[in-house]
Amino acid sequence: MDRVVLPEILDELPPADPRAIGSRRDLRRINGVMGNAGVLAAALRAAGTGPTAPARCAELGAGDGALALALARRLAPAWPGVAVTLVDRRPAVTAGTLAGFTQLGWTATVVAADVFAWLDRAAAETDVIVANLFLHHFPEADLRRLLARAAARTRLFAACEPRRSPFALAASGLVGLLGANAVTRHDAVVSVRAGFTGAELSARWPAAGWTLREGGARAFSHVFTAARAPRPGAGG
Ligand SMILES: C[S@@+](CC[C@H](N)C(=O)[O-])C[C@H]1O[C@@H](n2cnc3c(N)ncnc32)[C@H](O)[C@@H]1O
Repeated sequence: MDRVVLPEILDELPPADPRAIGSRRDLRRINGVMGNAGVLAAALRAAGTGPTAPARCAELGAGDGALALALARRLAPAWPGVAVTLVDRRPAVTAGTLAGFTQLGWTATVVAADVFAWLDRAAAETDVIVANLFLHHFPEADLRRLLARAAARTRLFAACEPRRSPFALAASGLVGLLGANAVTRHDAVVSVRAGFTGAELSARWPAAGWTLREGGARAFSHVFTAARAPRPGAGG
C-alpha cells in the first residue's frame, strides 16, 4: 500500500463544533482500543532518558490532552514534577484534564499554535517530545521538515501512528461499530492510508548520533523512537 495523505475533517473544525466534540470523544475510545498510551509509555521506557528523569515534555498535536494525561499517569511514578506542553492548532483541553495533570504533580500548559511555528520558538527546547496520531497528517516534505525541527529541540522523540496495513485499513472502516461519528469514520480511513510501516520514519529522521527503534505495536499501531546518544564525556 502506497502512502496517501489527504485532508482530515477534524483538522478544519472549530473545537466547539459538535462534530469536533464528538470526534474527539471517538478518538479517546480509539486510542483506548489501539492501546496507544501504553504503547508510547513502553517505547519511552525502552528508549530511556539517560541518567536524569525529564523535566520538560511536549506533545505535538495534543488535541484534548486526554492521551497525554493517560501517558502521564503511566510515567509520573518514575518522572515526577514534569512540565508538559500540549501543542495543537485547535486545542480542546478541558479544566478537568488540566486538573488531572495537577493531581499527578505535573504542570500542563496549553499552546494554540501550528506545530512548525511552535518548534521554531526557543520554548520548544524540551527533554522529550511525543506525538500520537499526528505525524501521518504530513506529506513527505513537511514530515521531513517536522522531524528535523523536532530533532533540533529534544533528546528523546516518540511517535505512535496508525499502521498502514490491509488489516488496519479494514478495521478503520469499522469504527462506526464503536459509535464513531461521520467525521471520525472519514478520518480513520484517511489516517490509515497516510500511516506508516517498516522503517519509514527512521529513514526520514535527519541526524546521525541517534538510536532509532521502529515497528508495529499491538494490532493497529506503528511506533517510532529516536534517542540522542549521550555525548562522549557527558556526566551520568
Ligand atoms: C488525530 S488528532 C490526535 C489528537 C491527540 N494526539 C490524540 O491522540 O487524541 C490530530 C491533532 O493534530 C492537530 N493538528 C493537525 N495539524 C496540525 C498542525 N499543523 N499544527 C498543530 N496541530 C495540528 C489537530 O488539531 C488534531 O487535534
